[in-house]
Amino acid sequence: MSDKTEPIGPATVVVVSGGSRGLGLAIVEDILAQGAKVAAFARTVTPELEAVAAAHPDRVVAASVDVTDVKAINAFLKDAESRLGPIDALVNNAAMGQDSLHVHTSPEQIAKIIETNLTAPLLLARAVLRRIMAKGNRGRIVMVTSVCAQRGYSGLVAYSATKGGLDSAMRTLAREMHGRALVNSVAPGFFASEMSSVLGQTQLDTITRRTPSGRLVEPDNIVPVVNTLLFHDTNINGQVITVDGGNSI
Ligand SMILES: NC(=O)c1ccc[n+]([C@@H]2O[C@H](COP(=O)([O-])OP(=O)(O)OC[C@H]3O[C@@H](n4cnc5c(N)ncnc54)[C@H](OP(=O)(O)O)[C@@H]3O)[C@@H](O)[C@H]2O)c1
Repeated sequence: MSDKTEPIGPATVVVVSGGSRGLGLAIVEDILAQGAKVAAFARTVTPELEAVAAAHPDRVVAASVDVTDVKAINAFLKDAESRLGPIDALVNNAAMGQDSLHVHTSPEQIAKIIETNLTAPLLLARAVLRRIMAKGNRGRIVMVTSVCAQRGYSGLVAYSATKGGLDSAMRTLAREMHGRALVNSVAPGFFASEMSSVLGQTQLDTITRRTPSGRLVEPDNIVPVVNTLLFHDTNINGQVITVDGGNSI
């Protein structure tokens, strides 16, 4: 059993959900650059993730798994642990977007967003933490949430509810873990990706104009914050770190 009075060490084997493209893939590459191992999944393993796995066969497990499929997730975690060693960190990054007014969003679509963006990440965090605790280890959890959890943005009601739910769960989980894990959220503002490709140029210009730093967020701005929460001894715990150029202030 590790000593609770000692700082939690840097992550060594990190699970990244949605590590196939966008921010998730950038996080996978950064974890590898840091020298740690990574178990990444998404419904589709992209050629980019495949190439990363092929370049680091001893340090990457990549698989096609739906985050809402509990059985498949447990099998993935078991396989990753047998190939990489004990998991000690999770970046809960996979999510689906939304671009529809609440009154025009079907009950089925709302349920799907909540299942993918809230229920599944909570179950994944539970599964990872149970594995960490079963071995008497300690770990780190990072939730990728959104500024939508803090400010109103049209067309994102169910999505915002899931991100706010994750931020709330994160705080309580940090308290519950009581030194066995550091648990935090990183809340990005808008950045270009497949998820956000629904936005047009006018909306992008408006976001840029309203951002005090004068430029849109990029994955490269978010990755160092996730890196800090995974690898550094900052004693940051139970916090939402917003990366949005000041858009939400
Ligand atoms: N882009 C933004 O402006 C923005 C702003 C704030 C926060 N965020 C958050 O940042 C994170 C990354 O978003 P992104 O913009 O990089 O999105 P993205 O390019 O759409 O990537 C989403 C990732 O999640 C995976 N994914 C989606 N549904 C899944 C499922 N059911 N099971 C397993 N994997 C699934 C996707 O792969 P598959 O589709 O192949 O499964 C992909 O790897 C998300 O949590 C998002 O909410 C994004």
